[in-house]
Amino acid sequence: MTPPVDITKDHNPLRSPLDKRLPRIAGPCSVVLFGVTGDLARKKLMPAIYDLFHRGLLPPGFSLVGFARRDWEDQDFMQIVKDAVRERARTGFDEKVWTNLADGIRFVPGTFDDPKAFEFLATTLKELEQTRGTEGNAAFYLSIPPGSFAQVCEQLEAAGLTEPKGDAWRRVVIEKPFGHDLESARELNDIVEGVFPADSIFRIDHYLGKETVQNILAFRFANEMFEPIWNANHVDHVQITMAEDIGIGGRAGYYDGIGAARDVIQNHLLQLLALTAMEQPLSFDAKDLRAEKEKVLAAVKLPGDLAAATARGQYAEGWQGAQKVPGFLAEEGIDPQSQTETYAAVKLGINTRRWAGVPFYLRTGKRLGKRVTEIAVVFKNAATPFDANQTEELGRNAVVIRVQPDEGVTMRFGSKVPGSNSFEVRDVTMDFGYGSAFTDSSPEAYERLILDVLLGDPPLFPRHEEVELSWRILDPIEQFWAEQECQPEQYESGTWGPRTSDDMMARDGRVWRMP
Ligand code: BG6
Repeated sequence: MTPPVDITKDHNPLRSPLDKRLPRIAGPCSVVLFGVTGDLARKKLMPAIYDLFHRGLLPPGFSLVGFARRDWEDQDFMQIVKDAVRERARTGFDEKVWTNLADGIRFVPGTFDDPKAFEFLATTLKELEQTRGTEGNAAFYLSIPPGSFAQVCEQLEAAGLTEPKGDAWRRVVIEKPFGHDLESARELNDIVEGVFPADSIFRIDHYLGKETVQNILAFRFANEMFEPIWNANHVDHVQITMAEDIGIGGRAGYYDGIGAARDVIQNHLLQLLALTAMEQPLSFDAKDLRAEKEKVLAAVKLPGDLAAATARGQYAEGWQGAQKVPGFLAEEGIDPQSQTETYAAVKLGINTRRWAGVPFYLRTGKRLGKRVTEIAVVFKNAATPFDANQTEELGRNAVVIRVQPDEGVTMRFGSKVPGSNSFEVRDVTMDFGYGSAFTDSSPEAYERLILDVLLGDPPLFPRHEEVELSWRILDPIEQFWAEQECQPEQYESGTWGPRTSDDMMARDGRVWRMP
C-alpha cells in the first residue's frame, strides 16, 4: 500500500531544493567595502548592493561597512551610499527598503597602515554580529589599487579578521587588473593566497557577470543547431569587439602605462574568447567550467609575425556625437609623450582540432564610433550553384552575439530578393533581442557577482590559473610593442581606430565588421 501523502510537504519535484530556478538568497553576512570613494563603488557596487536588497536576495540583517581615509561618521557614509543609490539603482529608490538597508550601514575611518583602524573594524563586525545577526560572515571587497592589496590583506590578518570562528566564513574580493604581467600577477597572487585560502578568493572580471556573456553557454550548449557547425570545417574566422565611445574619463592615473590591451584584452576579451571556443564542460560547476576555459587559453597561439598580426592606436581629438573631445595626450593627468595605447587589436590562433586555422581577431578601443561589444562568428562561403553575379550582395553567413548594448543575437544569411527572376541572393538578418523576448530587465553584472560571492558560488570568477594563462598570451605582445618604442598610431576620436588595424585584416583578405 502506498503511504498517505503528507500534504504539508511540497511534493512537486520541480520545486525541490535542487530546482535551479529557485531564487538564491544570501545568508546572514556583512560586506566590508574598501575604496568607498572610488568611481566603481559609487557607480556600480553601492547601487548593486541596494538592488539585491530591494529584490529580497540579501538577508534582513545584511550589513555594509565602509572603510576609508575620511573623517566620517556612519551618517556621512550612509548619505554617500544613499546618493549613489538614488542616482543609479536599477530597481528604483524605495524609502522603506532604504531605511532597512541603512540600519546596517557602518563606517570605519582609517588608513591602510593603521592597525588601530583594523581593530576598530573587527569591533564593528562583532557589533553587527550581535545587533544584526550577521553570524560573523564577512566579505572584504578590495575596490582599491592593487598596490594596496598586500597591506590590506596583512592588516586583516593581523586583526584576526581572516580567521573566522566556527562555521563562519571570510572571503576576499579583488578587482582586475590582476597584476600588469605574468610576474606581477604571480606576486600578487602569492600575497593574497598567503592570507586567504584559494577558495575564499573571488577575482572579479565583471564581463562574466553580464547576462549576455552567460548566454554564450546557453546558446552553445542548450541548443542542437549551432554546435555542429561551431568549428574549423564551417567557421572562417571570429571577431570579438569591445568598442567604447568614451575616453579615459578621470582615470588617467590608472590608465597611463596600462593601455587597452592590459585593461581589456587580457581579461574581458580573452574570457569571451574562452567561452566562445571552449569544449562543452561536464557541468557548469566551477571546476568543470574553469577546466575547459583553461584548456582553450593554454591552446592559444600567437602568430609568428607580431608586427603584421597586431595593431595599436591612440585617440586624437575629434568628435563624440556633437561634442568636440580632446586627444588622449591632451587629457588631464596624461604624460604628453605617453606611448600608452587606447586601441589594441590582435590576431590569435587556437591550436586545437576544432579551431585549427581559424583566426580569432580581438579589438578594443576608447573613443570609437559607438559603444558596442559583440562576438561575430563568421562562416565560410557555401559552395553554391549560383553564379557570382547572382550572389554579389551576399556576404558570409554570421552569428553575432550582441553583448551590449541592444543585447541579443543576430543571424545573417542569404535570401532570394523578392521578384528578381534572375534569382538574386542578398544578405538578410534574423534577430533575437532580450528587450522584446523577455519582460524583465537584466540584472547588472555586479548584482550577480556580489550575490555569488555572498553565496560562495565560484563559477563566474576566474581562478589564478586563468589569469596566468591570459598573461602568457599578452606578455609577448606587450614586450614586442615595448621593444618597438614607437608612438601608437593616432586615430581621430569618433572613428573606428587606426588604419593599421584595417590593414591587419586586409592582409588576410578580411574586414572588420561595422557594428
Ligand atoms: C573596465 C575597464 O574593466 O571595463 C574600463 O577597466 C572599461 O576601461 C570598462 O571602460 C567597460 O565596462 P562595460 O561594462 O561598460 O563594458
